[in-house]
Amino acid sequence: MKVLFIGDVYMEQGRKAFDKYFASVKQEYKPQIIIVNGENISDTNGLSEEIYKDYLKRGVNVFTLGNHAFSRRDYPEVLALPYVARPANYGPGTLGNEYVIYNYNGTRVAVVNLLGRIFMRDPIDNPFTKMDELLETIDAEHIIVDFHAEATSEKIALAHYLDGRVDAVIGTHTHVPTADEMVLPFGTMYQTDVGMSGVKYGIIGGEVAQGIRKFVSGVPERVKAEKSGLLQFNAVLLDLDTKKITRINIKEE
Ligand SMILES: [Fe+2]
Ligand SMILES: [Fe+2]
Repeated sequence: MKVLFIGDVYMEQGRKAFDKYFASVKQEYKPQIIIVNGENISDTNGLSEEIYKDYLKRGVNVFTLGNHAFSRRDYPEVLALPYVARPANYGPGTLGNEYVIYNYNGTRVAVVNLLGRIFMRDPIDNPFTKMDELLETIDAEHIIVDFHAEATSEKIALAHYLDGRVDAVIGTHTHVPTADEMVLPFGTMYQTDVGMSGVKYGIIGGEVAQGIRKFVSGVPERVKAEKSGLLQFNAVLLDLDTKKITRINIKEE
C-alpha cells in the first residue's frame, strides 16, 4: 500500500500548486491513501470545511494540522470533521481527533499529528510520552505520524524513539524540504521535513519584502502571504509494504 503525504499547503498559492500538480503526481505514483498537512491551507491559516470537502472529493483522505489548528474562528466545526487529525499532544479537553483511522479495503491506517516543543509557542504535552499513550489505544495495521516541529534534533529523536513502532515519522512545519529521507534500523520511514506547497520565492510562504523587513527591523508584523510567482509542490511517497520512501520535489523554473 502506498501513501502520498503532501507537506503544508500554504494558502492561495499553495492551493494553486496543488491544483497544478496533484493530478499528475497521483497519476505517476498511484497512492492508495493521500494525506495533506492543511494547517495553512486557508488564507487565514488553518483548514476550512469548504476546502476539506473539496479536497476529499478530489481524492485526499486525511488532513493533519499543526500550530495553526486553532487559528480560524470556526475551528470547533473543522476539528469535528471525521478525517482531520489535530496535534494529539494538546491537553485533556481539547476538541478534535487525537488520531484518524482511515480504512482502506479493510486495512486500517492510523494517522497521528504531533506538535514539537522546541522553538514552538504553545505549552503542550510531551509528544514522546503522548505517543506512548496513543500506541496503547490505536488499533490499526499501519501508523503514520506527522511530526509538526521546528527543531531537526527533536524530529530525529522522535523518529528513533518510535522506530519499529510506527510505519513512518514525517516532519512538517518548517516549509523547507530536507534531503534525508531514510529507513531507520527498525524499519520506520523518516524524513525531517516534507516541505511546503506554494510559492517558490517567499519567506516560507510569506512576502519576501515583509520577511526581510521584519528581520532587519525586529518589529513584529502579521505574515502576509506572497501572492504570485513560481511555485513548488513537495510530498513524499511511502510504500508501506516494501518500506521505500521517495521524495517528490517539484520546483518551477
Ligand atoms: Fe505550516
Ligand atoms: Fe506550523
